[in-house]
Amino acid sequence: MSQINYISEDKIEEQLALCSELIPLIRARSETDAPLAFVDTYGCQQNESDSEQIRGFLSLMGCGFTTDEFLADIIVINTCAVREHAEMRILGNVGALNHTKKAKKGQIIAVCGCMVRQEHMEEKLKKSYPIVDIVFGPDEVWRFPELIMRLVKGRKRVFEVTRLDGSLFENLPRRRDSKLKAWLSIMYGCNNFCTYCIVPYTRGRERSRKPEDILMEAKELIASGARDITLLGQNVNSYGKDLGIDYDFADLIKDINALEGDFIIRFMTSHPKDAGEKLFKTMAECSKAAHHIHLPVQAGNNRVLKAMNRHYTREEYLEKVRLAREYMPDLVITTDIIVGFPGETPEEFEDTLSLVNEVRYDSMFTFIYSPRVGTKAAAMPDPLSRAEKQILCDKLTDAANTIPKEKHAEYVGRTVRVLVDGVNEGEEYNLSSRTKEGRLVHLKGCPEMVGSFAEVKITSSTTWALFGEISGQ
Ligand code: 5AD
Ligand code: SF4
Repeated sequence: MSQINYISEDKIEEQLALCSELIPLIRARSETDAPLAFVDTYGCQQNESDSEQIRGFLSLMGCGFTTDEFLADIIVINTCAVREHAEMRILGNVGALNHTKKAKKGQIIAVCGCMVRQEHMEEKLKKSYPIVDIVFGPDEVWRFPELIMRLVKGRKRVFEVTRLDGSLFENLPRRRDSKLKAWLSIMYGCNNFCTYCIVPYTRGRERSRKPEDILMEAKELIASGARDITLLGQNVNSYGKDLGIDYDFADLIKDINALEGDFIIRFMTSHPKDAGEKLFKTMAECSKAAHHIHLPVQAGNNRVLKAMNRHYTREEYLEKVRLAREYMPDLVITTDIIVGFPGETPEEFEDTLSLVNEVRYDSMFTFIYSPRVGTKAAAMPDPLSRAEKQILCDKLTDAANTIPKEKHAEYVGRTVRVLVDGVNEGEEYNLSSRTKEGRLVHLKGCPEMVGSFAEVKITSSTTWALFGEISGQ
C-alpha cells in the first residue's frame, strides 16, 4: 500500500495565513523593515523548482532577496544527495555559516532537500551543526511557513523530515527565477530503483499531478510571458500511470501543444525503458515540442546495465535512438553516463565508449560512480581505484567534446530560429539565445530582443556554441 500524503487546499490556505502572521515577527527578529532571504540551490531542476516555491513563501513573509549570506535574515540551503561530492560541498558551506550567524543576530538557517531525507545526514546536522535551526525534507516544502513559525515562537530547533512515500500538493506561491523560461513539475518521485541511485529513497514513489492542474499552470505561464516551458519529472514517461485514467505523457504534450501562443515545450528526464514510438511520433507532430530528448544511457555494456537495474539492453537503447531519429531527423540527443560502476571492467567500459561514438550525442554529462548509503550498488565489490576510473572518464570527456564540435560546424551557413533569452554583458556577441532543440547561439543585436523569436544565420561555431547574425541585417 502506498503512503502518499495528499495535501488539501485548506492546509495550504493555513500556510498562506501563517505567512501574513510571520511578517511582523520576521521584521522584529531582523531589526529592519526590509528583511532579506537567501535560497541557495544545489542539484537538479526539481530542486530549482522547489526553491521557487520556498521563495514564493518567503516573499509572502515580507522578505526581499540577496545572495550575500552576511546580509540574509533567513538562509535556506536546498540540498542534493545524488553524489558524495555535492554533499561534501554542501556540508562545507553549511559549516562556513558559523561566521555569518555570529555576525548577524537572529539569523535563521534552514537546510532542506534530498540530502536531509537520509537519516544519517539528518543526524549529522542535528549533532554536528548546531547553527542549523530548521531541517525539512522535500515532502515538507508545502509547510515551510509553519516550520519558521515553530522556530520563531518556540526558540527550539525544528527537525521535520517524514519518510513516507511522498506528498502531493497544489497552489503553492511561487517566485519564478525567469519570466521567459519556466519549470513545470508534472510528477514527483521515482519507482525505478536503479541500483546506484538515492533518488527513490529521497523523493519517494511516483505521483502525477492531474492533467487539468498542469494545463491550468501552463496557461498561466504562457499568459505571463513564458516562452520556454520545461516539463519536469524524474521519469516523465511514467506520467499518469498512477492516476487511473487513460492518459499518458504523450497525451499531455499534445494538450499543452494545443494551448494558444508561441512557446517551446521541453521535458526532463526520460527513462529509455519507457520512451517509445508514441512519444517520438507525438514530438514529431507537435509543432511546439522541442526536438530534444535527454535519454540517460548510463552504460553501454549489457552486464553493467543489468547490474544497474536499467531494464534495457544496449541493442534496445540503440533501436530507440534509431526510431526517434526516424521520426525527427533533426533530433538533439543528450545523455548521462556513470563511469566506474562497481565491478565495471575497463573492457566493459569500452562498450560505453563505442556506444557514445555510435549515437553521437549532442552533449553528455559524465559522472564517476559515487556510492550512496542504502543503495544496492553500495554493497557491490568495487575493485577499480578512483585514479583508474578517472582515466576512463577522461577518455569519455574527449569523445564528448569532439562530437558536438563536429555537429556545430555543420550549422555554419544555415539559418535557424531562436528564442533570444539573455544578454552577455560586455561581449562582442552581446545576446544569447537557443534553438528549439536547445543549441546555444550567441548573437549581436539590441537587448530589447530578449523574449522574442528571431531568424539567425550561423556564421561560426565552437564545441560549446554557435555564433550568428540576425537574418536580413
Ligand atoms: N554516482 C554517480 N552518478 C550518479 N547519478 C545518479 N546516481 C549516481 C551515483 N551514485 C547520475 C546518473 C543520473 C544523473 C542525474 O546522476 O547519471 O542520470
Ligand atoms: Fe535514479 Fe534511476 Fe530513478 Fe533516474 S530512473 S531517478 S537514475 S532511480
